Amino acid sequence: MEKKSGTPQEIAYDEIKDFFDSAPPLRDGNTVCKKLHEFLETNSSSTGNHINNYRVVCVTSGGTTVPLEQRCVRFIDNFSSGHRGATSTEYFLKAGYSVIFLYRRESYQPYCTSLPDNPLLECFEMTDESFVQVHPSHSDAVKKAISNHQAAVKGGHLLKLPFCTIFEYLQILQLIATSMKNLGPYAMYYLAAAVSDFYVPWESMAMHKIQSASGPLDMRLAQVPKMLPVLRNDWAPMAFFISFKLETDRDILLKKADMALKKYKMHVVVANELLTRKEEVTVVTPTGNISVRRDKTKGVTDVEGPLIKLLVEKHSAHIEDSIKCS
Ligand code: PMT
Repeated sequence: MEKKSGTPQEIAYDEIKDFFDSAPPLRDGNTVCKKLHEFLETNSSSTGNHINNYRVVCVTSGGTTVPLEQRCVRFIDNFSSGHRGATSTEYFLKAGYSVIFLYRRESYQPYCTSLPDNPLLECFEMTDESFVQVHPSHSDAVKKAISNHQAAVKGGHLLKLPFCTIFEYLQILQLIATSMKNLGPYAMYYLAAAVSDFYVPWESMAMHKIQSASGPLDMRLAQVPKMLPVLRNDWAPMAFFISFKLETDRDILLKKADMALKKYKMHVVVANELLTRKEEVTVVTPTGNISVRRDKTKGVTDVEGPLIKLLVEKHSAHIEDSIKCS
């Protein structure tokens, strides 16, 4: 492979440019832009010369896929269910934020995390040939899910944008960031998606289904360029940033989260371990670490409740600081 020249920053920016230049075009890019424009118009208002900004958070959720063929039959996936992103979205809405929910298709959805796996078939029943009703044992949960979801969408506070591949995810994230730039410090990024680290560049990808008759598959994966620096420094320089660090080895988790905090100039890194991610997370900040735990005995039914409360406080401080400095 040809070795690139330039400073590390120039090389990183070249790699990002190459990634976008060679990615397949986003199929419904214009529709996404239109939806974003309408959503952000609803969530800001102007009085005279003054623009009143509302707080908007972009929550990324679920895992990106890496296609192995252009007419994709096979792909590489990861474990992420989207539970963290969906639950966090509910708490952000409750705290008065408007949410752009960038989610992996078919992953968990806000207000639906406590419904059965197959809600359509498990929550409803036919009473006669033409009448369907909610099964009494799921009635409250279904009503609550539908009314909360409708209120958020109809009120213009929830915009849901789906992705599947790493190409779609990064292209839509860029569209969101450029659309949200005017919100300045009122914008927040909560990057809970599990983003692929390796991929097959589009131009070197087989077009048709790879044939098993050709023998064992030998494939070289390229590294997905790190998008955090360009997102933080160029696409949304004033926004409040929360990234996540997932490890399976507890001994390296906090060190790596701290490195990410400094390297990418994040405001917060949420560190979690694969097996205990629903029980506890560590909020790593420039001023110290805070452990956030689920504790059913104290009525704390999930980690996201106290986590979002803490992040909202930190975001408020960030907005105040930004206003003072401007
Ligand atoms: O979805 P659940 O099942 O509920 O699980 C939640 C979760 C464990 C997925 C979530 O809490 C979490 O930790 N998400 C981030 C997982 C991850 O991919 O970590 P990472 O160390 O690979 O990436 C760190 C950060 O860099 C992420 O915020 C990611 O958005 C960002 N990144 C990653 C790759 C890349 N090429 N560019 C990036 O900017």
